[in-house]
Amino acid sequence: MSTSKVKCIGILTGGGDCPGLNAVIRAVVKTAVLKGVDVVGIQDGFLGLVENSMKVLGPEDVSNILTRGGTILGSSNKDNPFHLLERGKSGKVRFHDRGEEIPKNLKRLGIEALVVLGGDGSMTVAQKLSRKGVKIVGVPKTIDNDLVGTDQTFGHDTAVSIATESIDRLHTVADSHHRVIIVEVMGRYAGWLALRAGLAGGGDIILIPEMPYEEKKVGEAILERRKRGKKSSIVVIAEGAHPKGGKMVIDQINPLSVERIRLGGISRQLAHHLEARSGVDTRAVILGHVVRGGTPTAFDRNLATLFGVHAMDLVLKGQFGRMVALQKNQMASVPLSFVGGKTRKVPLNDNLILAAKSIGVEFGV
Ligand code: F6P
Repeated sequence: MSTSKVKCIGILTGGGDCPGLNAVIRAVVKTAVLKGVDVVGIQDGFLGLVENSMKVLGPEDVSNILTRGGTILGSSNKDNPFHLLERGKSGKVRFHDRGEEIPKNLKRLGIEALVVLGGDGSMTVAQKLSRKGVKIVGVPKTIDNDLVGTDQTFGHDTAVSIATESIDRLHTVADSHHRVIIVEVMGRYAGWLALRAGLAGGGDIILIPEMPYEEKKVGEAILERRKRGKKSSIVVIAEGAHPKGGKMVIDQINPLSVERIRLGGISRQLAHHLEARSGVDTRAVILGHVVRGGTPTAFDRNLATLFGVHAMDLVLKGQFGRMVALQKNQMASVPLSFVGGKTRKVPLNDNLILAAKSIGVEFGV
């Protein structure tokens, strides 16, 4: 039986999906059931809280989902309940603040606390709801690994593995054609994914947002390799990387979305410039959402399970307004107010950067 006063919780997944979301949901539901706490799954992120779209989750709902990618609850990275886009019959677009409805809805439904799985945007909304009295525990997810307060988010390890395998495959294409292949990976404004997959995949040049590069130096590094008999080169570039004094490449701006800026395309721009500069056959490959899909790695399944169990621990102890975290290999938690609106970037003295430099990987600086 539960030692806490909480008898019913809600759980939702906000923001972009990532591998391991289902593993967290499973851990939360299994722990809750054993403690005599009911769990309600809220559909499509915070939207389900205003539209009352939800269903009770029992053990049968979370059976066989440990290995499944995506989220059984659905997600949304464009619906902020405090600034919710609604289209009238005429097609006219308006924003409504429907955040006020959420505490009332939860009370009416008997949901006493919420477990919110999400990234920076979701933690910001969670913090706002928490200030309105909603009891919340956050769980950090994102392939980008850019959330402050935790050493790692779940989903990141899987994305690194998929990106690494893709780079492995592109080596043979580059070798066969004596080409330069520029592999672009997601990661938003942080270079964790590019750095970790780039080094694991034997990338020759790694370009990340934290280290604005000089195109001239990237070109020189490729020609230098050719002089040494290396006819192909692999460049791994983060979507947020940019030349010194230059700008990030934006694929699209959607003023109506919470995530207004969609990055993407820097690899194509760099490929054109490098080919023109060096005369070497160059291709750009954008991995995009591929790294977000499919089965989580064993590491991510275990991290997700640890996070889910720890989140329930906080719920049962009545410790709300916090996000669970991994710190120095131990479960910990940080206040939600510490997380929102910040980006955890790769420090320039990160061990992987230093190791990469030691073995001759170029960063274009
Ligand atoms: O935050 C995760 C992420 O995959 C980023 O790496 C990327 O910039 C963004 O989401 C893509 O968002 P969307 O799924 O809306 O295209």
